[in-house]
Amino acid sequence: MFITSKFQEFTIRDFEILDSTNDEAKRIILSKAINPDNLIITAKQQTKGRGRVGREWVSEEGNLFASFIFDISKQPNPELYSYFCALAICDLLKKYDVKPELKWPNDVLVTNEKIAGILLEKCSNFLICGVGLNIDSNPEYLSDRKTTSLKSLNIDIDANTALKLLSANLASIKEEYKKNHLRNLAGIIDDLLIKGSAVLSMGNRIKGAIMGIDEEGKMIFKTESGIEKISSGEVFFI
Ligand code: BTN
Repeated sequence: MFITSKFQEFTIRDFEILDSTNDEAKRIILSKAINPDNLIITAKQQTKGRGRVGREWVSEEGNLFASFIFDISKQPNPELYSYFCALAICDLLKKYDVKPELKWPNDVLVTNEKIAGILLEKCSNFLICGVGLNIDSNPEYLSDRKTTSLKSLNIDIDANTALKLLSANLASIKEEYKKNHLRNLAGIIDDLLIKGSAVLSMGNRIKGAIMGIDEEGKMIFKTESGIEKISSGEVFFI
């Protein structure tokens, strides 16, 4: 069972417990029972929370688990939503005077510790943007890095308030992009981006250095054989 509410252009379906909010989003899209554009699925707990590259996302009560559904049938650059979500989280942190950092493509860190992750999945004409934000607790390590939470940063907000702030930020970033292509989107992302020596994994592994973001949102990766422009993959800093 879920409780439905409205916030700005969004409809929110809030569940006590789900396997994964992204999986519920997929079921709703595939059922074709409603138009799911601008629907947000949230749950207080997830039993099978998923991260990128098949990882588990530990989903304890008190943290935010939300999946935003957007119709991308008329969107020329749906891959930019990954940045839109990351920026929405960064704007939330900045509101509380915390300096966010972006580990390409869309992990949000604070002082090198991961506070939020984003899992983007396409389903039919829709994009599901799954956001996990550590509010009350965090696993000590996630893959290769330490993690943190809003509580550890002395930010006292609950999941519901965080969802509203995040949704409002996301709506205004999308609007701003529609109006004027979010002038200097690449520059904004580039300022947040952690740069330096890294291994890029895209099936194979390539050593190089993250230099920045180009005007199209691609990551500029300098390798022994020259400059590559990368649109997807996983990076590990070395
Ligand atoms: C990552 O950093 O690996 C991405 C983590 C994404 C977690 C969120 S929580 C809400 C949504 N539902 C899921 O099962 N995963 C995403």
